[in-house]
Amino acid sequence: MYSARDITKRYGGVQALAGATFEVDPGEVHALLGANGAGKSTLVKILAGGERPTSGTLRLDGAPTAFKSVEDAARRGVALVSQELNLFPALDGLHNLFLMREPVSGHVAISRRGMRERAQRVVRQLGLAFDLERPVGELALGEQQLVEIARALLGDPRILILDEPTSALSADETARLLGVIRSLREHGVGIVFVSHFLEDVFEVADAVTILRGGRVVVARRPVGELTVAAAVDGMLGEAAAAVRSGASPPQVERTIDRRDEAALRLADVSIRRKVRGVTLDAHPGEIVGLAGLEGSGVQAILRMLFGVERPMGGRVVLPGGGPCPRGIAEAIRAGVAFVPADRKQTGLHLEKPIAENISLVSSCALRRDGLVIRNGPMAQRAETWRDRLRVAMASPWAPVGALSGGNQQKVLFAKWLETGPSLMLLDDPTRGVDVGAKAEMQGVIRSIAEGGTVVLYTSSDLQEMAALCDRVLVFYQGDVMGELGRDELSEHGLLQAVTTGELV
Ligand SMILES: Nc1ncnc2c1ncn2[C@@H]1O[C@H](COP(=O)(O)OP(=O)(O)OP(=O)(O)O)[C@@H](O)[C@H]1O
Ligand SMILES: [Mg+2]
Repeated sequence: MYSARDITKRYGGVQALAGATFEVDPGEVHALLGANGAGKSTLVKILAGGERPTSGTLRLDGAPTAFKSVEDAARRGVALVSQELNLFPALDGLHNLFLMREPVSGHVAISRRGMRERAQRVVRQLGLAFDLERPVGELALGEQQLVEIARALLGDPRILILDEPTSALSADETARLLGVIRSLREHGVGIVFVSHFLEDVFEVADAVTILRGGRVVVARRPVGELTVAAAVDGMLGEAAAAVRSGASPPQVERTIDRRDEAALRLADVSIRRKVRGVTLDAHPGEIVGLAGLEGSGVQAILRMLFGVERPMGGRVVLPGGGPCPRGIAEAIRAGVAFVPADRKQTGLHLEKPIAENISLVSSCALRRDGLVIRNGPMAQRAETWRDRLRVAMASPWAPVGALSGGNQQKVLFAKWLETGPSLMLLDDPTRGVDVGAKAEMQGVIRSIAEGGTVVLYTSSDLQEMAALCDRVLVFYQGDVMGELGRDELSEHGLLQAVTTGELV
């Protein structure tokens, strides 16, 4: 009922889409797959009125359609939850939910009570457990993503487009969202589902379309006729072979010399209202996972080590021998790097060139002699990282905002690696990164650990956590419940541990 035919889209010299055709019917879950930069977000933005195609036609119920804007499309039943969050951090959940809706609904300003009642239905459906009266900026990334989804659902769309909706969600939240998708399908809603989590795709989708380099390489294939391996082949083309042989590189037995002095030492550390008595010794070269749901204390520990949160008691010794940093500048000087989960709000300067983003911290914060790095070396560094992490970019001087989501994530990662840290804090470092690049980034994380950096890692992707970490500390409601060693790690075991606080 909604179709896009022969869509092309150019951004300057970049051909994001080269004649893509895509349709979705009522009651269908149609997954759209592709490597980072394949054109998925571009296509769904075009479907949802956020971008105009360079050529091609859209038809809604058979009639040619051109939406003026995302709001226009939403009014006509086509809603997009975009890959990057578009919330107002200072406003509370309720206001964010109704923001775009109030003026266009034509009603007299809806009362707060009215808003709350309408929101309740959707909130119950998604199982949101947080306070809608809190500024959304204080919510976890996954919760913010759910607020975005709730906002789309409030308009009762006929077509709901979800661009990587689960990338910041916990396993529980994901399961619930997949349930909501199924129930919307039963009610005849057509759903476009973009995701790098092939398991979720195979669980919920009816049909799959795969884009590669802006072209459709697998067209609306019923999910039963496709295997995960074939999907990876479709997404990555010739590069798939390399991923297959080197994919989730087998965990190399690394011997970590624990007789050495610990490089990072936390002794009985408490953070007011967030963490009680955490003790942790991490050795050079170790990748230590911190597993825990929102409110478990994991985020507080990372923030403390980056100088954003103060410990209330206990002792912290950084790998360089220094104390717990007071403030971010001090943390950076002490060799601490932090890749945050939220690349848009706190990670990158989207309007600035890629090269500048990558050199930003290392040049500004580390150099006290005031030297400015010249453009040549800056571009060279960007190109080194482009090759190492396979960042798809037209030029080092293009703004980061012009990169696809997964490629932005790689730049964020590169920016912190560039500082040569002795302590690397990673919060969902591969969020939105495709299956091929994920394996590469995991390889890079291992190699920086091998160079003697202490890595503390957390992620909503428990499978990755189990594959990557040497051991994992399980946090539950502010306490460390115990530790799982390399041989005890599994996705299932971690899921059980973070949700119940019990280690099996
Ligand atoms: N505003 C823009 N200006 C210039 N180039 C752009 C812009 N938006 C997207 N592109 C380019 O278009 C191509 C497709 O990007 P798109 O965001 O659609 O990829 P994607 O499939 O969603 O990838 P990801 O999985 O990383 O999110 C990329 O090469 C990207 O750099
Ligand atoms: Mg995208």
